[in-house]
Amino acid sequence: MESYFVRVDEKEFGPVSTAEIRNLVDKGSFTKDDLVWSEGMDEWVAAKNLAELNQIFNTEDNNHGPYKNKLFAFASGKGGVGKTVLTASIGVGLASMGSEVILVDGDLGGPDLHTCMGILEPEHTFFDFYSLQKDSLSEITLDTPIENLRLISGACGTLGLANPKYFQKKRFIRELKTLQADYIILDLGAGSSYNVLDFFLLADEKFIVTTPEPTSMYEAFGFIKICLMRALNRSLREHPKALEVLAKEESNRPGKIQLTIPDLLHKIEGVDPKAAVTSRNVVNSFRPKLILNMVKEKDDIKEGMAIQAAVMELLSVNVQYLGYIAYDASVRDSVRGLKPFLLHDPKSQASQDLSALIRVNLLGKKGFKEILKKRKWRKHLNTHATEYPDIDMLKDAPICSVNCFYWGDCEYQDGGNPCRVRHLEPVLKD
Ligand SMILES: Nc1ncnc2c1ncn2[C@@H]1O[C@H](COP(=O)(O)OP(=O)(O)O)[C@@H](O)[C@H]1O
Ligand SMILES: [Mg+2]
Repeated sequence: MESYFVRVDEKEFGPVSTAEIRNLVDKGSFTKDDLVWSEGMDEWVAAKNLAELNQIFNTEDNNHGPYKNKLFAFASGKGGVGKTVLTASIGVGLASMGSEVILVDGDLGGPDLHTCMGILEPEHTFFDFYSLQKDSLSEITLDTPIENLRLISGACGTLGLANPKYFQKKRFIRELKTLQADYIILDLGAGSSYNVLDFFLLADEKFIVTTPEPTSMYEAFGFIKICLMRALNRSLREHPKALEVLAKEESNRPGKIQLTIPDLLHKIEGVDPKAAVTSRNVVNSFRPKLILNMVKEKDDIKEGMAIQAAVMELLSVNVQYLGYIAYDASVRDSVRGLKPFLLHDPKSQASQDLSALIRVNLLGKKGFKEILKKRKWRKHLNTHATEYPDIDMLKDAPICSVNCFYWGDCEYQDGGNPCRVRHLEPVLKD
């Protein structure tokens, strides 16, 4: 679903999702004559002139249900930075606060969110959906041991279709957001294919995970730049001269900066002033959030601020540094134990860091009342932690062996880990 910038009483803010605009309408802070803008639009228009928003003002159509339907997407330039373990534990954290949560595995290279949740052989995956064995996403949604936390398990190679067109991706996101959930959390895997970029850009809240390692930070920066270029390209389709300026900049290596974004916008202004207005709106509306994972020492924490400053200076993008998570051996143990780390050891440093990040930085819960609620949340987490099943890996999972069909072509071949690709055999053999 779209996100919009809105202008009310001469003040602009955003990006806000349709659901958030609905809330503003319910509160009486937004009317059908207020102006909105979103990616791809040349100018601000009254909300009533957009079909998707106009239906909000039609009270008979106002049957959106009690859910927030917020879509979070997790991405990173580099793999192995902790996207999947964070996605799983953030899901657990939000579910333990009482929200309805659905985790969605969108990692096309190596879907493994299910193993993180202790599900070794998912009954359904995206494969059932795109092979038309199941008609709707709700039919492939799996239960987890936590009542209000569910999972859509991934399949190698594609998220619904082989080479989805942009409108098909938009339709897929819209469909995800019709699921009955407050938070739908999409783990996108590494890299910057068009699929990853588009799904990331279409999410309501965009999270980039990095570690303080230079290569990981470099790739996170590159990812932010490529996202921005993709968003600009999509919005400037009607502006050929501006597209030429972009193409010239893009002929550089990804992540390498020839022109800063202010320089680029200046160049666009020179060839097409209208395109420059659109571009500025695109840049302002791109507000990814950054999570720094595997922090080993105090000095590492500053690396998040360093990325934030570099991205602002070179790309003019306002990144919110959401927080950091310590490097913690218990996270590694939790992966071996097939449990989200927040449940494996709720008292570990990584769990404490993540809890604070979710409550304070993500949900903005501060103050006396919230401290009381925090105790209740801790209690829920501890109950879930004790009730979450322990999986006997040796009994339930085949351990990687040199006899495997995929030996030599699998990142888990070093043995000792439960096989994470076994359920994909029907997909891969086709
Ligand atoms: N905070 C952390 N402390 C220690 N190890 C971590 C931490 N976060 C992730 N890891 C380790 O990194 C590995 C890769 O994490 P994963 O979530 O699979 O990465 P990604 O999804 O980005 O490829 C995990 O198996 C886990 O052992
Ligand atoms: Mg992953």
